[in-house]
Amino acid sequence: MKSVICVLPGDGIGPEIIDVAVDVLATIGKVYSHEFELNYADIGGIAIDNFGDPLPPATLAACKACDAMLLGAVGGPKWSDPKATIRPEQGLLRLRAEMGLFANLRPVKTHPDIIKHSPLREDRLHGVNMMIVRELTGGIYFGDRVESETQASDVCTYSDTEVQRIVRVAARLAVSRSGRLVSVDKANVLATSRLWRAVTTQVIENEFPQITLEHVLVDAAAMHLLQRPKDFDVMVTENLFGDILSDEASVIPGSIGLLPSASINDGGVGLYEPIHGSAPDIAGQGIANPYGTLASVAMMLRHSLSMSAEADALEAAIYWCLSQGFLTIDLADENAALSTREVGAKVCATLSYY
Ligand code: IPM
Ligand code: MN
Repeated sequence: MKSVICVLPGDGIGPEIIDVAVDVLATIGKVYSHEFELNYADIGGIAIDNFGDPLPPATLAACKACDAMLLGAVGGPKWSDPKATIRPEQGLLRLRAEMGLFANLRPVKTHPDIIKHSPLREDRLHGVNMMIVRELTGGIYFGDRVESETQASDVCTYSDTEVQRIVRVAARLAVSRSGRLVSVDKANVLATSRLWRAVTTQVIENEFPQITLEHVLVDAAAMHLLQRPKDFDVMVTENLFGDILSDEASVIPGSIGLLPSASINDGGVGLYEPIHGSAPDIAGQGIANPYGTLASVAMMLRHSLSMSAEADALEAAIYWCLSQGFLTIDLADENAALSTREVGAKVCATLSYY
């Protein structure tokens, strides 16, 4: 069966890491006899340059017609003029909204041979395996915005149904894991957080009585995440808190370049991308860490393409390559660092060997 993948390289290091992901997909296609049809489309800054629109109609049409979307990154200094009204990031936000991708899954796992590169104490890092479930199409990201030279406002709104559906996604994950769920909010200050907390409690009590639910304020959660990361399993939170906490959590495994994400809706189509940005400072040098993108490909194989054996094999290949010290400069010593493509070739070779 043919799978149609919409490939959105985007800006900065996006095209470099996506090239490697495409090589790995080709290897998986060869080893497992799958046909992947890749439809490339512009998003973000490159789409502003080519079409004057960060999410051109042709890109959205390609996304609506595919089985899964694979994205590199968007944004960069070229399009960061504070006076600009069109921004690369708007393309990604509109894509999330248009495709109804309300649930963003960001797994954070440590690798025993990599944690020595984390700035955190090693004894706190062994065996960390958590899942951040970030609400992705609501909250302050999508509220009314007013901007003048002297005053600005961003409105944060959540409805009960928006909270219910993301909590259900997190709860189903929690049931399949440890049965523990931490919900993060700022209920001591924000009205949206008080609604969030009340609705979360209700959903869990009524529909998932087997789950142990804990509510944690976001400031405390930010601290606990680094002090005792092993205590977390599934964490559910709203859009902005999830954005911030997932970048913070990337310090735990050692590099933000390692972390994947999946953005899903109630159907099967999903958007898969590393959690890092476009890294304009290293773009074009071929040194970006591709592991987060490759791990996103594994999530895509599993969640959108029903290829769980292939996803397992890719995750095993990534794990093995990390164990072997096949690392880019963000993790390796300067004289031992591999290029983005060299890491990709190691992963492909490992997959072919299995
Ligand atoms: C992310 C990114 C995006 C976000 C940006 C690029 C709009 O930081 O996916 O975490 O804030 O959601
Ligand atoms: Mn982010």
